[in-house]
Amino acid sequence: MGWIFSQFGEQLGRGSGIGELMDDLGHALAVGGDEVCMLGGGQPAHLPELDAVWRRRCQTLLDDPERFKAVVGNYEPPLGNQSFRESVAALLKRRYGWDLSFKNVAVTAGGQTALFFLFNALAGPSVGAVPRKVLLPLVPEYIGYANQSVSGSLFRSVRPQLELIGDHQFKYRVDFEAIEVDDTLGAICVSRPTNPTGNVLTDLEVDHLHEVASTAGVPLIIDQAYGSPFPDVVFREIKPRWDEQMILTLSLSKLGLPGTRTAVVIARPDIIEAMGSMNSIVGLANSNLGQAIVKPLLDNGEVCQLTSQVIRPFYQQKSEFAQKCVREVFNNDLPYRIHLSEGAFFLWMWFDGLPIHSQELYRRLKERKVLVVPGQHFFFGLNDAVKDDTENTTQSYPERQSIWKHQEECIRVSFAMPDEVIQRGIEIIGEEIQRAYQSGPVW
Ligand SMILES: Cc1ncc(COP(=O)(O)O)c(C=O)c1O
Repeated sequence: MGWIFSQFGEQLGRGSGIGELMDDLGHALAVGGDEVCMLGGGQPAHLPELDAVWRRRCQTLLDDPERFKAVVGNYEPPLGNQSFRESVAALLKRRYGWDLSFKNVAVTAGGQTALFFLFNALAGPSVGAVPRKVLLPLVPEYIGYANQSVSGSLFRSVRPQLELIGDHQFKYRVDFEAIEVDDTLGAICVSRPTNPTGNVLTDLEVDHLHEVASTAGVPLIIDQAYGSPFPDVVFREIKPRWDEQMILTLSLSKLGLPGTRTAVVIARPDIIEAMGSMNSIVGLANSNLGQAIVKPLLDNGEVCQLTSQVIRPFYQQKSEFAQKCVREVFNNDLPYRIHLSEGAFFLWMWFDGLPIHSQELYRRLKERKVLVVPGQHFFFGLNDAVKDDTENTTQSYPERQSIWKHQEECIRVSFAMPDEVIQRGIEIIGEEIQRAYQSGPVW
């Protein structure tokens, strides 16, 4: 007989739609070998310049027996190594003039853990108050948030406005008129740049969200997993912003160190203290390695050189290459639009009026060894959202029209892979899109 799981166990221990999808992608990759075009994951590219820096830093640590002994052999305090926290605060102060000290910095086991702590601390049921939600002012938004609640549904999302640009591009804009502020609001969160779309909210949008958050008396969380100052995969000028109304999450992952599981939260001291408390309860302390590898690069500014001279140019060139492949393959014959590629690692492709569900497109592409992520997974928290069970596409086409069709017409394509993989993948996507439009609806 099975043991009975708690609400926590049910919500976190029984898998999730995206967990299954990631398994599916991993399995397809394992059996498909070299022929597979892996355009589905969020894995950063292995850049030789960066790998050399990490090797050099590890060698330096190994060559310093006392330091090495401390890094692998000591528990650090739950908030992270104090001198690493000081280095993060000093870098942000030098670069942006923000008034910060180590008391504004907490280390966590990756941005994923930071957001899990923040969401569940700021939203959900609370003593003497109505249950609160995290407002996602613009979906599609990072799928990694979707199942992070320990206490029922946690998100309230808002459909964006779509700005059509030329024949083949578009950009999502926050629909401020659709945002409702009431006492169920616990926090507002955006990823900037956004995974999956490559959108970078404008400074004006951030200022406006800041105003909404201040009026409601809740924090504005900006997830900068791809943002400034590292890894700074941002292809347009923006002015990063922080003050005590805001919480930022930064991560070493997209800098090329996802295996170190290291991120930082920038916030006012009471939130930082809460992060330390949660770190100690859930995991005692953080991994020391990422902090030890990166600290000198924060102090001497090398991290900013790496981002501006290696990382950003690499991904920008990849983005341009992927867009060129799309233009050549689709050649004005097929209805497609790409979201403006303003940052992160992904092209977000929208096929207006696509006669098949994006899940079916995903299946057909997988059969041809091209792995992408079907778009519907990124639209969670909408009242009229498609059911979590995205495999169930048995409703007839007209019935499904009541659902916001747009969310079933998009795919996310990573451009972090080698050029030949991107090119082959996009050619096959083009063939399958052509086939879909020619053969008509399949539901
Ligand atoms: C937008 C966004 N936020 C947070 C994360 C979490 O990353 P990590 O836990 O590796 O820092 C990711 C990972 O892909 C992401 O894309």
